[in-house]
Amino acid sequence: MRRLIPDPGETTVEEQLDSYRPWEQPLDERPFVATNFAVTVDGRATIDGVSGPIGSDTDTEMLARLRTRFDALMIGAGTMRAERYGRVAGRQEERERRERLGLPHDPLMVIVSGRLDLPWDAPLFTAGGGRVLIFTASEAEPPETATSLRVVRHEGEVNLAAALLHLRGERGVRALLCEGGPHLHGQLWAAGLVDELFLTTAPKLSGTDAPRILEGPSLPETAALELAWLLEHEGELFARYRRG
Ligand SMILES: NC(=O)c1ccc[n+]([C@@H]2O[C@H](COP(=O)([O-])OP(=O)(O)OC[C@H]3O[C@@H](n4cnc5c(N)ncnc54)[C@H](OP(=O)(O)O)[C@@H]3O)[C@@H](O)[C@H]2O)c1
Repeated sequence: MRRLIPDPGETTVEEQLDSYRPWEQPLDERPFVATNFAVTVDGRATIDGVSGPIGSDTDTEMLARLRTRFDALMIGAGTMRAERYGRVAGRQEERERRERLGLPHDPLMVIVSGRLDLPWDAPLFTAGGGRVLIFTASEAEPPETATSLRVVRHEGEVNLAAALLHLRGERGVRALLCEGGPHLHGQLWAAGLVDELFLTTAPKLSGTDAPRILEGPSLPETAALELAWLLEHEGELFARYRRG
């Protein structure tokens, strides 16, 4: 892997993320929030309805290593239905690496859902390891799950600023990685709740009208970004942007 910006030279995913310590930058009212997406060159965030075919193994490694540096991960219900997550820190060595950094051994897995219509047979709920917290606007009761599950209810729709305040104040979350999807991501940017965006651009054209990384209501104004780094491996570009 090559680092193109800053200080051009050889690097690795591990080396790039080694000094990345988002948990040291929490705000009073919310965790530090980074988001992560993979897109095709024509800006599409899915191929055949999922994100997996977009990025390479290096992209998977980037995501896996990023996950080891956050207290909590967040996804929307649409992403949970499409991607059917399992336990995120599934391997003992990942949990140990997290603990060495002073992070909880399993990240808190946070799901935002309006209807609580979730794939309850997905391994995230059936595996029995880790912890899940669902913010929902539904009054429905979830089924019994093997994995520890808490539900926090909001009226009408989930207020994301209030949800992040809850994570910071009640759950001690200092750094949160949001893995999408596009509708949740669009709302987070619209509400000014994102600090950084990790964006992988795969050397592929989708040629479809699949979603982009921001969907839903327009942003109140164009969001300016600063390029913190740009890496390249076999034609795939890995950018880290900070809110400008
Ligand atoms: N390329 C990538 O890196 C990437 C990353 C993530 C996802 N994806 C893809 O994106 C697609 C899913 O897109 P999406 O935009 O539908 O996903 P999403 O943002 O994960 O989910 C949307 C759903 O989240 C819930 N939600 C979001 N904000 C809410 C709020 N404020 N209050 C209450 N509920 C809220 C709603 O759930 P209910 O339906 O329960 O009301 C809504 O239908 C999948 O195909 C996935 O593979 C791609």
